[in-house]
Amino acid sequence: MKIYSRISGTGSFLPPRRLTNADLVQELAAQGVETNEKWIVERTGIQARHFAAVGVCSSDLALEASRLALQAAAVDARDIDLIIVGTSTPDMVFPSTACILQSKLGTKGGAAFDVQAVCSGFIYALTLADAMIQTGAATKALVVGAEVFSHILDFKDRSTCVLFGDGAGAVVLEASKTPGILASDLHADGSFSDILCVPGHVSGGQVLGEPLLKMDGPAVFKLAVGVLDEAARAVLSKAGKKASDIDWMIPHQANIRIMQSAARKLKMSMDKVVVTVDQHGNTSAASIPLALDTAVRSGQVKPGDLLLLEAVGGGFTWGAVLLKL
Ligand code: UT7
Repeated sequence: MKIYSRISGTGSFLPPRRLTNADLVQELAAQGVETNEKWIVERTGIQARHFAAVGVCSSDLALEASRLALQAAAVDARDIDLIIVGTSTPDMVFPSTACILQSKLGTKGGAAFDVQAVCSGFIYALTLADAMIQTGAATKALVVGAEVFSHILDFKDRSTCVLFGDGAGAVVLEASKTPGILASDLHADGSFSDILCVPGHVSGGQVLGEPLLKMDGPAVFKLAVGVLDEAARAVLSKAGKKASDIDWMIPHQANIRIMQSAARKLKMSMDKVVVTVDQHGNTSAASIPLALDTAVRSGQVKPGDLLLLEAVGGGFTWGAVLLKL
């Protein structure tokens, strides 16, 4: 009999320090960086974001989100045989944040590794976990997106530092006789690696190159709207579904204008799009599981709903997953 995978629980966590645009504008002004609330809201849709304290790592946020997802799924951490963390802000160069998370959860033995696909990290991680469950390599997976992007922001660069936030989201994905995940589609084009990157690296006991985020926003924006539509259409076609079948689109939360364009291309109303970018900012790999959990817990998204998850990010990477909750 064919084995499918299905989400059995979701969880998320935001660090307690919340900065509204007004708070951030004031902090940046004190450092001589000029921006304003009107620009941030009009160009991005962001109104607030959360920043983790210095010393708080992705695994700390992942732990809280994972505990909630395990609780929602009524699964004991000791029964998890696979942990995949999508992150571009790992706790260390190595070991992986997934291994650190496993230890913090008090478990051992199952496979644990990170996926580095920047903002597409959760879509990549979910696709991998689904494939491993389908082949019988795993039965109960914890799939996490966790980021502390505030730690790699250049607070002198107003074109990027107002966009990102920190947080984590997690799902428990279990083997099932009925499909949950219906189709997925992953892509990358490394020739665009320089339009969104953190170019620094560790060598000889030093960080060589700039260890802060650089982005050509308009170039990313232009590519994003095209590839998101391609990925969305690919998963719909693979699953034999139409855009009108989708109950909720949960896109990567980077910019409300990208989300509006993605919905418009599929002729979907924004009433069917889960939006959390206003309150979370862009939390990279954490943004989709954070939005999913927020929508599940508010009752917006319900069991049985058909969900389109789609993301685009540094690499350049992009992809989509179509699933029944
Ligand atoms: O998560 C991975 C994927 N990332 C994304 O999807 C991000 C994609 N890109 C974007 O969301 C948008 O390109 C941005 C929000 C980053 C920028 O929006 P834009 O409409 O493309 O603006 P722009 O970069 O073309 O800048 C327009 C103007 C410039 O001024 P001039 O040259 O027209 O006078 C900027 O200097 O806005 C100015 N500007 C700002 N002004 C006030 C840029 N940042 C700010 C700021 N406050 N924070």
